[in-house]
Amino acid sequence: MAAYKKIETSAPILGTFLVAAILSSNAAAMDGDAAKGEKVFKKCAACHTVGETAKNKVGPVLNDVFGRPAGTFADYKYGKSIIAAGEAGLVWNEEELFIYLQDPRKYLRAKLDDKKAKSKMTFKLKKEQDRLDVIAYLKTFSAPMEGEETEETEEKQSES
Ligand code: HEC
Repeated sequence: MAAYKKIETSAPILGTFLVAAILSSNAAAMDGDAAKGEKVFKKCAACHTVGETAKNKVGPVLNDVFGRPAGTFADYKYGKSIIAAGEAGLVWNEEELFIYLQDPRKYLRAKLDDKKAKSKMTFKLKKEQDRLDVIAYLKTFSAPMEGEETEETEEKQSES
């Protein structure tokens, strides 16, 4: 009986560990497919554009979103919460986007620790693989981030 009790009380802790493990394994892998992501982006394209002719629509242009502080694309009128998150230091990268895209409002509420935080983006991209793929696609419209491994640095590492 005592043993059973012990398992029961440690279950939530185990759960937290599992979530952390899953999140970090995603962060490490992040193996999205840009070609598939282009198809996923059709869902975003109702509100967002990328490429040379990109313009702000319902949502901001998503060129160079990697490394961009949240809520700062020129001439786009962001919601207060995402601006606050950017001012608090949020810079978009793969890990942050992966969580944001799943549920932007929930994400901003957690980031700002504010139950009333709002997102102007109501769209949620639930499927994990879709998020990885669309992130890989968006990356092709962003310059490589500082410290990021390019093929060149990988080659250098394998030489040494
Ligand atoms: C129904 C319209 C709509 C759809 C669909 C949509 N978004 Fe958004 N998105 C927005 C709006 C509006 C904002 C501005 C959020 C705010 O101000 O709170 C935004 C913000 C963003 C941001 C933050 C940009 C910045 O400069 O900080 C990213 C990244 C983003 N969207 C990615 C995506 C991706 C990827 C998809 C498709 C999987 C998508 N969005 C689908 C409307 C949309």
